[in-house]
Amino acid sequence: MEAAKEEVSVEDEAVDENVFKDCSKIAFYRRQKKQLSKKSTYRALLDSVRIGKDSTNFQIINEATKIPLLAEVYGLKGNIFRIKINEEAPLKPRYEVPDVLTSKPSTIRLFSCSGDADSLVLADEKGDLKLHITADPFKIDLVSKEDVVLSINSMGQLYFEHLQIPPKQRTSKENEDDAPTDTLQENQDDMGLWEEKFRDFVDIKANGPTSIGLDFSLHGFSHLYGIPQHAESHQLKSTGDGDVYRLYNLDVYGYKIHNKMGIYGSVPYLLAHKLGRTLGIFWLNASETLVEIKTEPPVENTLTQMDPLAPKQKVRCQTDVHWMSESGIIDVFLLTGPTPSEVFKQYSYLTGTQALPPLFSLGYHQCRWNYEDEQDVKAVDAGFDEHDIPYDVMWLDIEHTKGKRYFTWDKKRFPKPKRMQELLRSKKRKLVVISDPHIKVDPKYSLYAKAKEQGFFVRSPEGGDFEGVCWPGLSSYLDFTNPKVREWYSGLFAFPVYQGSTDILFIWNDMNEPSVFRGPELTMQKNAIHHGNWEHRELHNIYGFYQQMATAEGLMQRSEGKERPFVLTRSFFAGSQKYGAVWTGDNKSDWIYLKISIPMLLTLSITGICFCGADVGGFIGNPKAELLVRWYQAGAYQPFFRGHATMKTKRREPWLFGEEHTQLIREAIRERYALLPYWYTLFYHAHVTAEPIMRPLWVEFPNELETFSVEDEYLLGSALLVHPVTEPKVTMVDVFLPGSDEVWYDCKTFAHWDGACSVKIPVALDTIPVFQRGGSVVPLKTTIGKSTGWMAEAPYALRVALNSKGSAVGELYLDDGHSFQYSHQKQFVHRKFSFCSGVLINSCADKRGHYPSKCVVEQILILGVRKQPSTVTTHSTDGEDQPVAFTYSAQTSTLSVKTLSLSINTNWEVHIR
Ligand code: GLC
Repeated sequence: MEAAKEEVSVEDEAVDENVFKDCSKIAFYRRQKKQLSKKSTYRALLDSVRIGKDSTNFQIINEATKIPLLAEVYGLKGNIFRIKINEEAPLKPRYEVPDVLTSKPSTIRLFSCSGDADSLVLADEKGDLKLHITADPFKIDLVSKEDVVLSINSMGQLYFEHLQIPPKQRTSKENEDDAPTDTLQENQDDMGLWEEKFRDFVDIKANGPTSIGLDFSLHGFSHLYGIPQHAESHQLKSTGDGDVYRLYNLDVYGYKIHNKMGIYGSVPYLLAHKLGRTLGIFWLNASETLVEIKTEPPVENTLTQMDPLAPKQKVRCQTDVHWMSESGIIDVFLLTGPTPSEVFKQYSYLTGTQALPPLFSLGYHQCRWNYEDEQDVKAVDAGFDEHDIPYDVMWLDIEHTKGKRYFTWDKKRFPKPKRMQELLRSKKRKLVVISDPHIKVDPKYSLYAKAKEQGFFVRSPEGGDFEGVCWPGLSSYLDFTNPKVREWYSGLFAFPVYQGSTDILFIWNDMNEPSVFRGPELTMQKNAIHHGNWEHRELHNIYGFYQQMATAEGLMQRSEGKERPFVLTRSFFAGSQKYGAVWTGDNKSDWIYLKISIPMLLTLSITGICFCGADVGGFIGNPKAELLVRWYQAGAYQPFFRGHATMKTKRREPWLFGEEHTQLIREAIRERYALLPYWYTLFYHAHVTAEPIMRPLWVEFPNELETFSVEDEYLLGSALLVHPVTEPKVTMVDVFLPGSDEVWYDCKTFAHWDGACSVKIPVALDTIPVFQRGGSVVPLKTTIGKSTGWMAEAPYALRVALNSKGSAVGELYLDDGHSFQYSHQKQFVHRKFSFCSGVLINSCADKRGHYPSKCVVEQILILGVRKQPSTVTTHSTDGEDQPVAFTYSAQTSTLSVKTLSLSINTNWEVHIR
């Protein structure tokens, strides 16, 4: 595949579909489909119920095989239920995903109430939420205040393949006992029980078939979101036969758009939303997983067909979700909301929130495969200064190393890596270098030798280290699932160990699905062996998560826990948000990839991964100037903002497309930098309260149906609505402004509209349609520096957009931007701005915080001021009142004050009379 990748010419490169499986080639899918068509049922044995302090346990029996399963039901803090179903007595333990839950979730006691002989009702303390468990056939209903919100196994798709003794080791008695069961023993070669073929690959399954599945019916819901990563719409689509959402981390160069195949990462978590309720289903399983979704629209009662006189009854819509995994156990969390923000909190309680990134990483990143040598880096760096374009981070791809041996430098290209970093440091900029999980097989490469000696590589089923081909040629793969390997790997980032590294060097983890060029579906064979003797199939989707975890830990350790890490990863799993940023991999320089970046990032954002972005310009191919400009404009308003391109593309630094386009790109990047105080405040909120940064409209307007399917625009926080232009040569875009009580202001022209309407916005190539919500205050910087580091002391501007009542609120969070002092020593400033009855007040939002910022608020712009004020005065705590100069525009209803010097850190008021 290395060769294949290098041969790739560009735009027209299509994904070779034969390389990847569709459902028909996935044996556990075929088995489940076949068995489920037979409708075997499960029955809960209610006389086996044991109600413990933490959980309620009971047996479930398969009517055909009579083999019991054990169900455990937990009530968790914050209105979450957890249901685990496992074999009661497996031949050996089945894999339970470790390290994803932030800690052992606190349980709450569930009370058994009422129920009859055929059912058991478990309720939380208040009795608002109940699980109604029906014995025969086994079913669980989640009931919220008498409303059945969700049903589990109401479709009878509970499926569980029991571990068995391999046929060769069985006695004849055991063979009889193991006769046709739920695992379809009937001589079915194509069922892939102990062996599964795909192209030239044969997957030998030491444990035989181990697949599991379960269905969930969501009553009254027709809008589902989540389960990244797919190059698909934000709202999940109904799946057809053989067209399921696949969660299987794969390296798909130039992935296809509007496709449900698995790409680089997986978060097995979806959200369902309807008027009045949002809920989440988190399926904690790291093996290959498939999700079917079927939405039934609301129907008029069918009974009327039989009895035309019967009163018409509306049956509400329903969406059925069917999860199937190749292995592991059923371990599912029901996040009961009821609001979107409560679901975000519930999910973050389980998997953690977005790590607060260092401020520099919110600036613009300049990447390319590859920046050739130190001279090249110097020239590109200087190019930004010459063209007065801010940027924060220079990136080095695989060729910076000695023969793709990570943690080394190609001495010819980069003879003095520290000197190069000092140059970047002098500009207050950073360096990111790549570090992939494959390690070149080369006994002279000390990292390889040490890992080999300690048994730190994933093993092949035949014994010995697994070897596969990746960038360096033959490679072994570090087994990041082993805590000892992670500890050792973290240690490699220590300054004395990583020669040539300094504290401005940060890390990019790539190819960590893991990508194995000649492996099945370009990844690792499923029977490779990990720490604890687990097969790769059990944990495939969590491999990349572990690499990023170890890398982030390493970057923290090298500073003795003082500095925040920055790690970008391509592969991810639920909880990856704790370790850094994610990007959407190898996209193409094509308008459709620009367009799909929005729903892809929205999906990541609502599943916890807030710090996400797509390669600006498109990785594969050569964007024309217009596309590149539009991509910069869109990227400037997405959380992770990096330009990147593959090696065969033409150079595309922002100044290579003529002065007009340089100017437009400069403007877009400068808008990003101006808005940094707002971005940083949003990241703080994501970190502390799990609110996504990029928000689909339905999250902010959960009671407005029209917002549920919108995916060509989104909100940044709650104050800004962004509608990037994603089509060529357009002169007008249709922007939907939500909220019947809202007012929206164009951030450039200050024109305003009432919400709940679509407006036609004329666009030129310099237009980025961004709107501020009435009722908000957005903090900005008034001067832009070479990088974020130059702007620490720069003054602020406050853009106040009044709502229909003439008021507004907003916040600002700031700290040193790089250390953990904000947390350990409470060294931060958190201010609140509120505007009401003509008075803008700056007050303290969090009294615990102290940080000696010298910054001042220099400018205030108020949008929606209906009449010209006669005076504007400032009032500070020391009691001094001062009139200040202002300008008022009746045409745009704006008031502007430009010559203030009010400390950000003290209480003050500005009175407008
Ligand atoms: C992969 C990455 C890409 C990187 C390349 C070389 O294709 O997705 O971003 O440039 O590998 O490391």
